[in-house]
Amino acid sequence: MKVIKVRHGGGEYPVYVGQGLLGTASAWARHLRGRVLVVSDETVAGLYLSRLGGALEGIRHHQAAILPDGEDQKTLANWQRVIEALVELGAQRDATVLALGGGVIGDMAGFAAACYMRGIRVVQVPTTLLAQVDAAVGGKTGVNLAAGKNLVGAFHAPSAVVVDVDTLATLDDREYRAGLAEVVKYGAIRDAAFFAWLEQEADALAARLPDALLEAVQRSVSNKAEVVAADEREAGERALLNFGHTFGHALETATDYRRYRHGEAVAIGMSLAARLSELLSLTIPGVAARLDALLQRLGLETQLAPGQDREQLLSLMRLDKKNQAEQIRLVLLEGIGRAVVRPCEPDEIREVFKEP
Ligand SMILES: NC(=O)c1ccc[n+]([C@@H]2O[C@H](COP(=O)([O-])OP(=O)(O)OC[C@H]3O[C@@H](n4cnc5c(N)ncnc54)[C@H](O)[C@@H]3O)[C@@H](O)[C@H]2O)c1
Repeated sequence: MKVIKVRHGGGEYPVYVGQGLLGTASAWARHLRGRVLVVSDETVAGLYLSRLGGALEGIRHHQAAILPDGEDQKTLANWQRVIEALVELGAQRDATVLALGGGVIGDMAGFAAACYMRGIRVVQVPTTLLAQVDAAVGGKTGVNLAAGKNLVGAFHAPSAVVVDVDTLATLDDREYRAGLAEVVKYGAIRDAAFFAWLEQEADALAARLPDALLEAVQRSVSNKAEVVAADEREAGERALLNFGHTFGHALETATDYRRYRHGEAVAIGMSLAARLSELLSLTIPGVAARLDALLQRLGLETQLAPGQDREQLLSLMRLDKKNQAEQIRLVLLEGIGRAVVRPCEPDEIREVFKEP
């Protein structure tokens, strides 16, 4: 097991990354204090709730709040169910929320912990690849409104994050591959050595071989931890984590969140951003081909579908909340491992939208 420390404005917290951590609670169970509410979704609870037994052994008062799964459940109504479960448990200010699940559960339970009695402890136990390498680290919490995703939320750093890569064995294939897109992102924007390692280990990762998986998750978490430590509130470097995301979000919205998993849309977005970087001579040619090759070996698409309405994507990109004034601000590459934010003209973007 490796322990990665995340520094933030209010102190620091450990991220435990290893195998078999759910079953062997010794190292991390000390973060569970007061009464403990486990929050999970139906799928994850069915698979992993019983494995938490060891961690909860010495705790006199604990309960579980099990919510239906899915992005459409990341609502204020379910957030309220978590708050009510805390009341029912008799949780005081020293209580702990244990979020066991993917990013939906982590964000919602984290937001409930941020608000209950103006803030109680949360321990994040992420069970999807996306949540392990991204959502659970960094302290962003929140829920969706009908008007948009993540419109209500708070920064609330966890007391600890417990990443048990064994849980990834039950993840469905698409969910797993979508998570790999975020892993590739860290290599592409800030860690050339990690990118080269991913190229070497792509087949092992596609096959979910435990050693490769463990190292990929550890190196991704270390990258996220460094970015968050440098820029907790997204004023500078944290914005680079949006590589591929402005294109990706537009694609997800244009397809009503039905066609692509988030990571699948981000993979196409990263590929478009890399091609745009070459077109603008920000980087030497070949970077986009290298990125595409790696994504494809990991089972991810890198091209827009032929019939996809490009002008619609452009309009949606103009609405992105990261833009300033009228310009579309995109994260682009100066090379593998080096990213910058650059304002782009619509005509520049149209160039990479052209069908091959
Ligand atoms: N807070 C942040 O910084 C941050 C960053 C990125 C994404 N997010 C949020 O994360 C959410 C997406 O998270 P996600 O992709 O983990 O989706 P998710 O939480 O909906 O999980 C996807 C599905 O996988 C199932 N699942 C989870 N773990 C499993 C396992 N080990 N085995 C089998 N099935 C399992 C879940 O029940 C669910 O049906 C979005 O709401 C997004 O906004 C937050």
